[in-house]
Amino acid sequence: MTVDSDPEFTKVSEDDLSFEPFTENKQVRDFDCGDKDLNDFLNTEEVANYERENLGRTQMVYLKGELVGYFTTSPGDLRREKVKHVKSFTKYPHLEVENFPALLIGRFAVAKKWHRKGIGRMMMRHVMGMAQEFGEQRGARLVVLNATSKDAIKFYTSVGFALTDERKERGRQQRTMFFDLRALEGDDANSL
Ligand SMILES: CC(C)(COP(=O)(O)OP(=O)(O)OC[C@H]1O[C@@H](n2cnc3c(N)ncnc32)[C@H](O)[C@@H]1OP(=O)(O)O)[C@@H](O)C(=O)NCCC(=O)NCCS
Repeated sequence: MTVDSDPEFTKVSEDDLSFEPFTENKQVRDFDCGDKDLNDFLNTEEVANYERENLGRTQMVYLKGELVGYFTTSPGDLRREKVKHVKSFTKYPHLEVENFPALLIGRFAVAKKWHRKGIGRMMMRHVMGMAQEFGEQRGARLVVLNATSKDAIKFYTSVGFALTDERKERGRQQRTMFFDLRALEGDDANSL
């Protein structure tokens, strides 16, 4: 019996999820999140090639043994001018920073049959923990990503991401979004 057909299993909790780095013996062929590019990445050799070429690190997310999602991260950055409309970044005009160092979420997906059950939010909480650690050890202020649809923008907004400067992005299919890791240090730390 799978967890979703188990009548006892009504609510997904964070403790039920496990996060495991992609390895070639974990290759899958039938992951379906509803987005062809994100499916193809995981269902083909692309994910293994990314690992081999050090282009990103992919984490597989399991719910009681069933693959329910994945995400890929790598170091990234965001041009300062893209966030100059944001108050917290105008506080330090003396800082000579052209680009804010960041953790980039290159891919993020939840299996279609598990949408709207809070798994994306729990995965994001995990990514934020990774980003904080990465930020402390290597220096990173932001988490950045490119949202590819209106629904994705709604999801990322609901977990605390903001859009970068509108004028610079007009006409683009993808929208750059960012999360300021400083938000996790204050009273907002549990808002995700
Ligand atoms: C976007 C995605 C990762 C969200 O994952 P999820 O597990 O379904 O999201 P959650 O259940 O944690 O949703 C958290 C909140 O985000 C918002 N949200 C999530 N999906 C949404 C949608 N399709 N439309 C509007 N708001 C949405 C809601 O506010 C939701 O809270 P609620 O269900 O209590 O209203 C998932 O839909 C997905 O994998 N989509 C296809 C791939 C994709 O678009 N990835 C992003 C590429 S940039």
